[in-house]
Amino acid sequence: MKYHILVLYYSQTGQLRDIIDRILLEMGAQCVIEFKQIEPEKPFSFPWNAYDFFDCMPESVQLIPEPIHPIRTDRDDYDLVILGWQPWFLSPSIPMTSFLKSSYANILKGKRVLTVCGSRNMWLNAHEQIKNQLLQLEAKHCGHLVFFDRNPNLTSVLTVIRWTFKGQKEASSWLPEAGVQKNDIAAATRFGKPILDILQSGQWDILQQKLLDQQGIELKPGLIVLEKRAIKNFRKFSMFILERGKRGDLSRKSRVLLFKRLLLVGVFILSPISQLSAKVQLVLNRRKLEEEAEYFKNLRYRENAL
Ligand SMILES: Cc1cc2nc3c(=O)[nH]c(=O)nc-3n(C[C@H](O)[C@H](O)[C@H](O)COP(=O)(O)O)c2cc1C
Repeated sequence: MKYHILVLYYSQTGQLRDIIDRILLEMGAQCVIEFKQIEPEKPFSFPWNAYDFFDCMPESVQLIPEPIHPIRTDRDDYDLVILGWQPWFLSPSIPMTSFLKSSYANILKGKRVLTVCGSRNMWLNAHEQIKNQLLQLEAKHCGHLVFFDRNPNLTSVLTVIRWTFKGQKEASSWLPEAGVQKNDIAAATRFGKPILDILQSGQWDILQQKLLDQQGIELKPGLIVLEKRAIKNFRKFSMFILERGKRGDLSRKSRVLLFKRLLLVGVFILSPISQLSAKVQLVLNRRKLEEEAEYFKNLRYRENAL
């Protein structure tokens, strides 16, 4: 008997598709795998134009969907659905939100869903939103894997900027390659066996622990402090921009440009100070942050966790 797996994903650069392909590499013989890519009606261009990039923040943070092309699957009973997503502005990307809020997401009702995230390194709030959406869709969230860039925070900001605005992923003379490290993508094959074991045994309630045993999520507690601080500001600023109009409206341009300037100041000037104060908080509240890290690595959803 073959297991039927549906992979629903969005990826601008193909990085997430590479990750999912590696996870599935050694499962192919026992599974029939169907891939469906989420396609916005108005595609997001890559590399990005700087203004369009920052103009996406409010809709990303406030989970405002946009039209997507229809998604038609070969069947409606799958043993497992893999949902591949990425964070945009600490929130699910607009294409992923657009899918989850569309009628096509009804396919997830009652299905086991394994979420796979390909990020720079800040994915916590986005995952909380995804957990919540899956609950509302009555899906059975059974596992979560996170892939991230292991470079220091500021280095990964610089490489992601070079990648996003110039399309250059490759290393330059003073900066490493952008994105998730190649060896981490290659090593994703290790998750195939535990997933297959669970497909065979039906013990879905232990899948997440099995994935965590294989370092399926690594989370530095200091990042929780940084992300909590940033998402609060994004929530406020997104409402401030939305008061002036929708994505693409010229009427909100001055506020989007103000956000761009403040974000750049925050990242390049305040971030070293923020990181230092996050380290102090880590020393003072280590136990609490470690407990929070355990929560974020798991699938239970608690309102306002961030
Ligand atoms: C508009 C935009 C915002 C992003 N915001 C975040 C973020 O908040 N946190 C993060 O870890 N990565 C962020 N990234 C990086 C993406 O999550 C992702 O790793 C990268 O874009 C490659 O994804 P893809 O090719 O699979 O689409 C952002 C990328 C874009 C384009």
